[in-house]
Amino acid sequence: MDGNGRWAKARGLPRIEGHRRGVENVLAILDAGAEMGIEVLTLYAFSVENWQRPAEEVAALMGLLEHFIGLHTDRLVQRETRLRVAGDISALPAGARGAVEAAMERTSHFRKRTLCLALNYGSRTEIVEAAKAFARDVAAGRATPESLDWAALSQRLYTAGLPDPDLIIRTSGETRLSNFLLLQAAYAEMYFTPVPWPEFGPERLKEAVDSFRRRERRFGKTGEQVRCGR
Ligand code: FPP
Repeated sequence: MDGNGRWAKARGLPRIEGHRRGVENVLAILDAGAEMGIEVLTLYAFSVENWQRPAEEVAALMGLLEHFIGLHTDRLVQRETRLRVAGDISALPAGARGAVEAAMERTSHFRKRTLCLALNYGSRTEIVEAAKAFARDVAAGRATPESLDWAALSQRLYTAGLPDPDLIIRTSGETRLSNFLLLQAAYAEMYFTPVPWPEFGPERLKEAVDSFRRRERRFGKTGEQVRCGR
């Protein structure tokens, strides 16, 4: 969800105004995604690196998160959407953490759609934590080094149980992954757009999804094999 700050700056507004607009857009994209049949939508809301931003911006982001969850959990319930988190939310301020935990609890039984918020998320931290968890299991005799495969590792990632992303969209002209779902993105299609997040509305999402649908995904096979269903 990149470009909130630049969107605001270009209009002579404070950065937080850009984040406010960004949050309004989350709702529009959530609804549009549900209508397009997107089953899992993951939003990179706050990275482990984002703690380095000015304290007032961090506080404002946490406030927006808490406000958004408090205001829109009913909508998640109406949409039969489960809220999940990728990241370590124990470091979040109590208000934001409590709101997220309550919404996760209230929506945990839904299976149709998932909104996953990457909060205090960093892919390298996630991989290190998964490696530690596996090492602990080996030390306790619950696993052997030889039993480590992708399935065993991925079930120790924050995204355990979620499918790998098919499409990763990055707004605002950046063309890098910035520590987002590095392992899960192995076969993801990438979509980069110069449009800043506050302006990346439902029409833009549709363009991204249409672009995704036109692509041939080969997963290492030849185009012919894929077309013949082999
Ligand atoms: C990127 O814009 C945006 C963020 C780092 C924060 C996005 C998170 C929120 C708006 C908090 C609430 C989240 C939800 C899901 C309700 P940027 O500030 O990096 O923009 P810039 O690159 O133009 O400076």
